[in-house]
Amino acid sequence: MISATSRASLDMSRIAFAVVGFACVVLWSCVSAADEGLAAEPSFSDAEIKIILSHGPWPTRVGPDPSNRVSGKPDAIELGTVLFFDQRLSGSGTKACATCHVPERNWTDNLPHGVGMAQVDRNTPTLMNLRGQRWYGWDGAADSLWSQSLRPILDARELAATPRHVANLLRNDEQLSCRYRRVFGAPPSPIDDETVFVNVGKVLAAFQETLVSGRTPFDQFRDALARGESPSAQTYSTPAQRGLQIFIGKGGCSRCHSGANFTSGEFFKTGLSREKPLGKPDPGRPEGIRQVRESRFNLLGSYSDDASRAAGAQRVALASGSDGEFKVPTLRNLMLTAPYGHDGDVDTIAEVVRRHAGDGQSAGSPGLTPREQTDLVVFLESLSTFSNPWRPEDASRCD
Ligand code: HEC
Ligand code: HEC
Repeated sequence: MISATSRASLDMSRIAFAVVGFACVVLWSCVSAADEGLAAEPSFSDAEIKIILSHGPWPTRVGPDPSNRVSGKPDAIELGTVLFFDQRLSGSGTKACATCHVPERNWTDNLPHGVGMAQVDRNTPTLMNLRGQRWYGWDGAADSLWSQSLRPILDARELAATPRHVANLLRNDEQLSCRYRRVFGAPPSPIDDETVFVNVGKVLAAFQETLVSGRTPFDQFRDALARGESPSAQTYSTPAQRGLQIFIGKGGCSRCHSGANFTSGEFFKTGLSREKPLGKPDPGRPEGIRQVRESRFNLLGSYSDDASRAAGAQRVALASGSDGEFKVPTLRNLMLTAPYGHDGDVDTIAEVVRRHAGDGQSAGSPGLTPREQTDLVVFLESLSTFSNPWRPEDASRCD
């Protein structure tokens, strides 16, 4: 407990209340100010501090992906960056990964559903902080970042290309071919389309692994606690602190949105996205498992560079799930990624909290008062930063 300091700050807030009280006599509206003034800064127990510390430090260090031999290699990152923005990767030459994953929009598109050659079934997730995740896609239909990166290239609604189309692009463009040789030590194979295609997935993954969101007000606060400093309203607002206490306590949010990236990476059914009375329901996880098992690009297959393949085998074998389950998303940089949920049918963070936490009925719904919900929204906002560290650079010539 940090009771001494919280008593001191309670006194501070009484003084603040007196000042606010005076102001609100003048303004004729004292009700909400009185409410605010009485709500002191929370004090955190040792058990609570332990959970708060588990949401950091940020950024986390994650080693290279063993299934991708070019993971972390500067030449691979450079080729992956070029290809991510290159519309020639698509069958029609008019779409790129960046059509839906827009850097300035925290690598999403702010649409309910992504639109490539046609509209897809789901909301476009951010590409921030993907390194080291176990499953990719809302339903976890891919078990590596490189195999996830191959799916949109083939999908008729996204880039609508073929392995042959991609391999020919790499063979025939002198700059791409030169970069490919730098990364893989040999030019693109003139006959083996699929190997060239998979290697494109691997350099795209190497690029995406570099996307990490910046440090936020929450991270400052968490690190101050880790250093043994007392919480202070000067550095982290009282509503944010109250919201944090609800997040890790009554709200039960940390159960699923756990760890430094605020996701366990697992799959759950929640009341967030409304079921549509008409139309086919999205099965979520069971369909994702079916796809990952069938994929020739999964971690059991010959394209994985992880010689042991043990980790992949275990993952795929043990995977299980029920209808309507989706991957727990990260909560970092939420302010930049509306609308929310796999179906993109929730417009604001406040509405997410109302649906996800307000009714007290569905999973993850503890029944919070309007005031508690507001505090929770302030806390969630403190997990965002507007400094997007990523800037496109002109790639140097390859020769
Ligand atoms: C039409 C819009 C669109 C295009 C184009 C697109 N994506 Fe996506 N991306 C999505 C959507 C929607 C999802 C969620 C897919 C799902 O759950 O089925 C997604 C998911 C992902 C994920 C998984 C993220 C996570 O949190 O699990 C990665 C990685 C990704 N895309 C990378 C790429 C790359 C690389 C390209 C280019 C080769 C690309 N995307 C092209 C819309 C798009
Ligand atoms: C049982 C696990 C679970 C609990 C508990 C839980 N969540 Fe979630 N959360 C999820 C899942 C799964 C999704 C994605 C649901 C979907 O797309 O349909 C999600 C989605 C979200 C989103 C939308 C993010 C985005 O990018 O679309 C926010 C915000 C959120 N949760 C906040 C919270 C808060 C705040 C709490 C506590 C009141 C909470 N969650 C409790 C599992 C959980």
